[in-house]
Amino acid sequence: MLDTARRHEFCVLAAAKPALPVLLTAGRLAGRLRRVPRIGWVVSDPVVARRILNDPAHFTLLGEGGVGHMWAQVLGDWVNDIFDGPGHHQLRSRTRDLFTDDNARQLTARVIGPRLAQAGAALDAGQAVDVADLGRVLVGRIVADLLQLRVEDRDEAYREIFATGEELAALALGTTTSTHLAPETISRAKAIVARLTVNVAEAWRTAAPETVLGRCRDLGLEQRQAEGLATLLMVAGTETAASAMARTVAILHDTGAQHRLRGDPSLLPDAVREGLRVTSPAPLIGRAVAADVTVEGRRLRAGERVLMLTWTANNAAGPFDLDRGYLPEHRQLWFGAGRHLCLGAPLARAEITVLLQTLLASGRAWRISHRSYRRKVLIPSYAHLPLRLARH
Ligand code: HEM
Repeated sequence: MLDTARRHEFCVLAAAKPALPVLLTAGRLAGRLRRVPRIGWVVSDPVVARRILNDPAHFTLLGEGGVGHMWAQVLGDWVNDIFDGPGHHQLRSRTRDLFTDDNARQLTARVIGPRLAQAGAALDAGQAVDVADLGRVLVGRIVADLLQLRVEDRDEAYREIFATGEELAALALGTTTSTHLAPETISRAKAIVARLTVNVAEAWRTAAPETVLGRCRDLGLEQRQAEGLATLLMVAGTETAASAMARTVAILHDTGAQHRLRGDPSLLPDAVREGLRVTSPAPLIGRAVAADVTVEGRRLRAGERVLMLTWTANNAAGPFDLDRGYLPEHRQLWFGAGRHLCLGAPLARAEITVLLQTLLASGRAWRISHRSYRRKVLIPSYAHLPLRLARH
């Protein structure tokens, strides 16, 4: 029987897409590499998944089956270069220091610190705070800052930004079997991108050096590279981060690990890492085979697809455990691996960390009496997760 934490996680996955928990749990059978009708090659072994992600000569995200293929239809063929061509290497080397642990901490303190302080005060005053909604508002604030969107400073405006980013990402729903988009989907996506990146070009020219776009300029990125990167940051870093925040808070509650964490805050990095591992908010990574290659004794042909079940690989190590420590076989597979390893990983960790610090600050346990899961979304998450602090 599943324990409380795993039962809720299962519900989070099933609400997003009913077939998802089945795919992710049955996916264990795929092991090192297995061909599955209508999906292609499936991998749930962390070492084989990392080997594929580290082999850009044979696997690409540009071909049918990869996210690059989808985005090229929305943004134009030039993204091919930035997503996986020579331009990608240049972009990644220039943006290596865009998000370091240090500047991610500064960014979160500046952009979401005041809103978190407000949430902390509400909790101290005995009010309930919906951490799922708060996560969406916080991420909306980060996106607004990254893209230099000028909006009214109220939660509703940030919820709207989150929802717009989500709408864009939702266009990817259904791409598990094909990444060819319908013409009307492409024009809808183009309109959303135009709306969200309306200030990027100007900000790239004028933004202060401590902003991300200002840093992009100072790091030598061209305007179009900055625009492409801005779209990527928004799509990649919106739902994933909000999902990890709420689900980690829920797991700490459901496993009772919050009590130990409160007693020993030095365990905070372990809580963040385990939360990311167990939730693996981006549960699958797709690639297209670019050139014939043999993996684990099987011949993969150019044009075929590979689906890496990273959630399955990460969860095979066992349930949430503050004592689990670093897993060398997995490294940070929840952030991918190789040349496309998540650019925003330090930012994601910083966001989860400051949220947990806010909840731990009062020294009182948090209680969750009811919750609901988001239905039909790309990234599994909670719809509502209201919590209150226990009385002293
Ligand atoms: C818990 C939160 C997050 C998770 C689990 C996550 C996961 C991932 C994964 C698995 C990939 C690799 C995809 C692939 O190889 O196809 C990726 C790439 C990426 N992520 Fe994240 N991400 C998170 C948060 C963020 C944030 C906050 C940002 C920035 C605002 C971000 C920006 C990116 C970018 C730009 C890429 C593309 C990198 C490239 O192609 O070179 N991510 N992320």
